[in-house]
Amino acid sequence: MSLKDLMEEVNQVPENEPERQYYFIDKVKEFIEKKKKETGRPLKAICQTFGCQMNERDSEKIVGILEKIGYERAESEEEADFIIYNTCTVRDNADQRVFGRLGVLKKYKEKNPDLKIALCGCMMQEETVIDKIRESYRHVDLIFGTHNLFKIAELLFTVFESDSQVIDIWKDTNLIVEDLPVSRKFPFKSGVNIMFGCNNFCSYCIVPYVRGRERSRNPKAILREVEKLVADGVKEVMLLGQNVNSYGKGLDEKINFAELLQEVSKVEGLERIRFMSSHPKDLSDELIEAMAASDKVCRHFHLALQSGSDRLLKAMNRHYTKEQYLELVRKLRTAMPDIAITTDIIVGFPGETKEDVDETIDIVKKAAFDGAFTFVYSKRTGTPAASMENQCSEEFVKEQFDRVLKTVQETSKSQAERFTGQTVKVLVETVNDKDDAMVTGRMSQNHVVHFKGSSSLVGSIVSVHLDECCGFYYMGTMV
Ligand code: SAM
Ligand code: SF4
Ligand code: F3S
Repeated sequence: MSLKDLMEEVNQVPENEPERQYYFIDKVKEFIEKKKKETGRPLKAICQTFGCQMNERDSEKIVGILEKIGYERAESEEEADFIIYNTCTVRDNADQRVFGRLGVLKKYKEKNPDLKIALCGCMMQEETVIDKIRESYRHVDLIFGTHNLFKIAELLFTVFESDSQVIDIWKDTNLIVEDLPVSRKFPFKSGVNIMFGCNNFCSYCIVPYVRGRERSRNPKAILREVEKLVADGVKEVMLLGQNVNSYGKGLDEKINFAELLQEVSKVEGLERIRFMSSHPKDLSDELIEAMAASDKVCRHFHLALQSGSDRLLKAMNRHYTKEQYLELVRKLRTAMPDIAITTDIIVGFPGETKEDVDETIDIVKKAAFDGAFTFVYSKRTGTPAASMENQCSEEFVKEQFDRVLKTVQETSKSQAERFTGQTVKVLVETVNDKDDAMVTGRMSQNHVVHFKGSSSLVGSIVSVHLDECCGFYYMGTMV
């Protein structure tokens, strides 16, 4: 290409988003079309997601752009021409899973030299990870982070133009790019980002370092997205953020999460609203009232506890006490007696003693959690907890973890039994994977229900009698 052609080409590239990305989508599409003609078959891509709902939603955005570019969905990594891992780094085992699988990908690339491999997501925001991939995993073609995911078409263009590993990581951003394509995993339900990043800096947690500062999305953009989703057949939305209770801070418009929830509830045709995650320190009475007043907001509250020990909660930088947490649980259960409350618990935080764990077990019983994710503390480099003294021994943690888990299983089982015999609304999600004469759905409380039915029910909300509680799920009959 002559210098003149190059200058003309550069001048054509729009500066603003999302126009710039649509330009690159077309550019890569040309390349994919050419490749298709050469090989006489479609090109396929697969995006593997690790981590939380935030990453699930990000992957839907990645797949949306890849489909626009002309890639078809691959059913397995073996048949893919483009493999992308959207990674998580919240605990060390998430990192290890990715490194383990990268070795396998090298073999696929030996078989198909045209295969492109990309890594993105939270793990890529860590310098040590990038150094390791640069040195030991040269077969990875593209690496980008959490802040510039919207640029995947532009980055892919660079990959196809160059022979070397392309790495583009941003430290942070204020940018929220709207209106790019999204391809949903489920036609009837969808995540909706309402905010990005986190400012809480819980002392064990890496998320604020890899997801950047908290920024809320414009409420009009959120409502426009929800309306579009409903028009496209979505019945249930999940409003997503690391701490949805602090939604609205920093926006020009004065709005908080309770008000946003009320606005979203007004969207006609929308049947269910969920949200994730909530921090106890910012849970307001106004939010509890807004929830109780809406029959669209699901009767499920995920309220991360982490520990029942005031001493540990302080060291974790959580800004609430055991008693304050229990007070929130009481308020939620008083306002909505049928609500299910679930939580996250960490066992093995530095300096944790058996007495601290006793406090956690005590609060699990008093709060009567309907479910809990119990995690073994994982040391994350760069967080304050990583350099704390008194890291717990593996043996101690295992013992304490089992004690907590046992209590959680007891409370969640007895809580679930309270719904047996009731007739409830269930959103049917899939045909049962063990028996295709059965379908599986979720109650407002997020409990799973299996009952007789056909694939035509998937995506609809039906009434189901809960015949039997089998610990963590129900067997029911459609009425
Ligand atoms: N922002 C959400 C909140 O505060 O509820 C949680 C987000 S985090 C992705 C999900 C859970 O992972 C946390 O609630 C915590 O229990 C757990 N977690 C975070 N860092 C951890 C660590 N270093 N070791 C073990 N578990 C951790
Ligand atoms: Fe991590 Fe705490 Fe932020 Fe949740 S609120 S993402 S646990 S720092
Ligand atoms: Fe993991 Fe990132 Fe979510 S670290 S849990 S994918 S915000």
